[in-house]
Amino acid sequence: MGKALIVYASRAGETKKIAELIGEGIRIHGAEASVANVSDIKKVEDLSGFDAYVFGSATYHGEMMQGMKTMLFLAEKTGLDGKVGGSFGAYGWSGEAPGRIFDTMKNVLKMDMVSGPLMLKSALLGGGIEMAQGYGKDIAKKLG
Ligand SMILES: Cc1cc2nc3c(=O)[nH]c(=O)nc-3n(C[C@H](O)[C@H](O)[C@H](O)COP(=O)(O)O)c2cc1C
Repeated sequence: MGKALIVYASRAGETKKIAELIGEGIRIHGAEASVANVSDIKKVEDLSGFDAYVFGSATYHGEMMQGMKTMLFLAEKTGLDGKVGGSFGAYGWSGEAPGRIFDTMKNVLKMDMVSGPLMLKSALLGGGIEMAQGYGKDIAKKLG
């Protein structure tokens, strides 16, 4: 059974909710999922040992949150080449963060990405629950 780590950066809790729903989707489809706040990921060992990684941040002032930027440098050190990856985030209008995270995971970390980042205005509105759980399903399916 594959193991996924979902790491979120969230100020008001929406991106955290999305992280939890993605985790549910992964578990429903037969893989293991752990969900962590980016502030708890401090060293290479905190990131090591998973088969899939799903990183998410809310967008503030056109950017991902600082904690996620710092963690992506740690992920580069950890070496996640070829691991399954996805990204997500809550946003208000422009939503730059999930796409930036996705591009970094693909181009710098050389991960095997599912199709596209998951961007939601709210975890609980407009089919957000199904979309987030569905994204978890895509991750679990890629794990095989
Ligand atoms: C001060 C401030 C700046 C924001 N800047 C952006 C922005 O540049 N682009 C965007 O799409 N949303 C922006 N938002 C909206 C947040 O991304 C949105 O509220 C999101 O749901 C917050 O996610 P969180 O609950 O995980 O922190 C901003 C919100 C605040 C309060």
